[in-house]
Amino acid sequence: MRIYDIIQSKKRGDALSNEEIQYIVRGVTDGTLPDYQTTALLMAICLKGMNAEETTALTLAMAASGDQMDLSALPGVKVDKHSTGGVGDKTTLIVAPIVAALGVTVAKMSGRGLGHTGGTVDKLEGIPGFRAALGMDEFFATVHKTGICVAGQSMSLAPADKKIYALRDATATVDSIPLIAASIMSKKLAAGADRILLDVKTGNGAFMKTTDEARALAGAMVAIGNMAGRRTSALITDMSAPLGTAIGNILEVKESIEVLSGGGSDDLRHVSIELAAHMVQLAHIADGDIDACRALALEAITNGQALEKFAQMVAAQGGDRACIDRPDRFPNAQIEHVIPSPQTGYITAMDTEGIGIAAMLAGAGRETAEDEIDYTAGLILHAKIGDYIKKGQPLATLHTATEAKATAATERLLASYTIADNPVPKPPLIHEYITG
Ligand code: URA
Repeated sequence: MRIYDIIQSKKRGDALSNEEIQYIVRGVTDGTLPDYQTTALLMAICLKGMNAEETTALTLAMAASGDQMDLSALPGVKVDKHSTGGVGDKTTLIVAPIVAALGVTVAKMSGRGLGHTGGTVDKLEGIPGFRAALGMDEFFATVHKTGICVAGQSMSLAPADKKIYALRDATATVDSIPLIAASIMSKKLAAGADRILLDVKTGNGAFMKTTDEARALAGAMVAIGNMAGRRTSALITDMSAPLGTAIGNILEVKESIEVLSGGGSDDLRHVSIELAAHMVQLAHIADGDIDACRALALEAITNGQALEKFAQMVAAQGGDRACIDRPDRFPNAQIEHVIPSPQTGYITAMDTEGIGIAAMLAGAGRETAEDEIDYTAGLILHAKIGDYIKKGQPLATLHTATEAKATAATERLLASYTIADNPVPKPPLIHEYITG
């Protein structure tokens, strides 16, 4: 087998065989395939695509390129959830304890944020003392003890994807549905859950800007999961505005506690209940009726069990449980600035990515993987699409550390709102449900 011939055949648009795909992934993983040939192939895949069998073969080969978690020693059905990322998306902090309270085993690896999107691990590490970097023994012991653990992703999961992603990032080959689907699903399969719920975001704050693109990505990932023998389904959810009102790590943990306590903003609560209900449905712990699953998810909030499960998880991972019981104990940012609305009218659009960048400029996110984050920094939004606001009324509250950061973040935030005379409806929160 020669890599030259494989590149040539993909350039012509032919489908690659399983053996060819395994040869490539082996060569990427052990470093014998030069980067220039790998990137030539990635560009050919980007332009000519891959069919479902090729995409699944690539996913399985990348999943097998490193450690593969064996969760079979843990009790019950293990259900994972993955979000393609957005702004203010703190649903894992809410959904994982809800489903764990209902008896679904949550043994989850989560990622860090980069650029305008946040990451679950960063949010959790905003809780004083919380440790996401756990060894395998501690990870398993925590799940055994509390039924839930959310840890940082082990570096040895799908190393082929890590190398390929770095090459894609440098060669304008990220935006290929088969490559994105294989990248995400290789890590999900290697993480070992029995069932997977995907939250594919769509809108101006998401990777997939249109519902058509999100549907294509969701369909590809659902097909891979099911072909690999893991029951997988997907919700396409809205990211044409940030989810909830808080953006920034500690601020998002506090908002999650509000929802787990029965309050919080309507959009965040609604999306969280939908995701939890679909995870419960995948786990088969209720009858298959989604309304019954929704009712169970809501009940876990109203009877306090979901919040208690979250507090147990935090304590088991070294976090200060007192902050969960009394969120006013979380540290605060040095500067808290109210940003007034520059005009009167209806909010008709939000540049969600711009708002994520405003939070990053305030200190809540990283521009490069090496940047330090300020856990206290971020934004609380007081008005979103469809709301009416008068000039001078609070549009958002900025939490940050320096006046220079406050100025940069405020400018970016104000440029991200469109305010006009005529009202628009609020965007739908759940666009579609996709099942195998
Ligand atoms: N997230 C991933 O993990 N991989 C991609 O290719 C895109 C988003």
